[in-house]
Amino acid sequence: MGLEARTHVLPYYEINHSEISRIRVFPTPEEAAQAAAEEIIGLVRVNPQAVITYATGDTVIPLYENLARAAKEGRVDFSETSGFHLDEYYPCGPNINEYPHGFVAYLRQRVFGPLGIKNANEMNGLAPNPDAEAERYDSLLSAKPIDLAILGIGPWSDETQTGCHIAFNESGTPFDQRVHVRTLDPVTLARDRQERGQNSPEKALTQGIANILEARKIILLAFGEKKGQSLRATLFGKIGSQRPASALRLQGHKVILFIDEAAASQLGKV
Ligand code: F6R
Repeated sequence: MGLEARTHVLPYYEINHSEISRIRVFPTPEEAAQAAAEEIIGLVRVNPQAVITYATGDTVIPLYENLARAAKEGRVDFSETSGFHLDEYYPCGPNINEYPHGFVAYLRQRVFGPLGIKNANEMNGLAPNPDAEAERYDSLLSAKPIDLAILGIGPWSDETQTGCHIAFNESGTPFDQRVHVRTLDPVTLARDRQERGQNSPEKALTQGIANILEARKIILLAFGEKKGQSLRATLFGKIGSQRPASALRLQGHKVILFIDEAAASQLGKV
């Protein structure tokens, strides 16, 4: 891995992988988030009506802050783009006081509002029939091919050999599944309790891996040593439903990983 300056502003180096075309390593999460934002800004400038799926979570917060700043400064216009959710807890509503962990509130506050996205397609985590809601959302996605999916990655447990979710596709999710209702893995629920102090609902609505792999481009962000362990299992373990993120290796030509040094430090430890 040699240090290879590719941009004037943000130096990074790339890790070679036989299936994932671009794994870019930046010194810090801030720089990685800034570079990912520039990639997305470039995409929206070329395609002002881009259809974009947005992850929630902690990792992508600095990315969304960069995008919001660029929109405010008039460097990019998201108003004609369409936005989609990756997932939502179930049951869960948009009222942040009632559901502080909800993804609708998160996306309204950090993405749809600040970026001025008029066509925001929200998942209804309070739908009386969640399977019907999954079907409704899937037909919205089928009608609008996704130009870009922005992803984070879930924790991996060596002990249970489960984890590495993308959206809420937990270990065991078949790669051909579309939007569906999912029971969350104990690894995810433990992460929510320990790292976020939140008792999450045990179920979620989520785009399936099939929906994600259909995107024309996929950007995944991962920072820190723990995420490095998830990446190690994803990139160098067996491809299969036990490690849902490993599905990305089947469409690796569309995938760009933006990671930091701390995450990259784990990738040598196969
Ligand atoms: C959230 C989502 C999840 C997160 C993942 C990482 O919409 O789809 O897959 O991306 O759980 O979460 P953070 O970034 O909080 O570590």
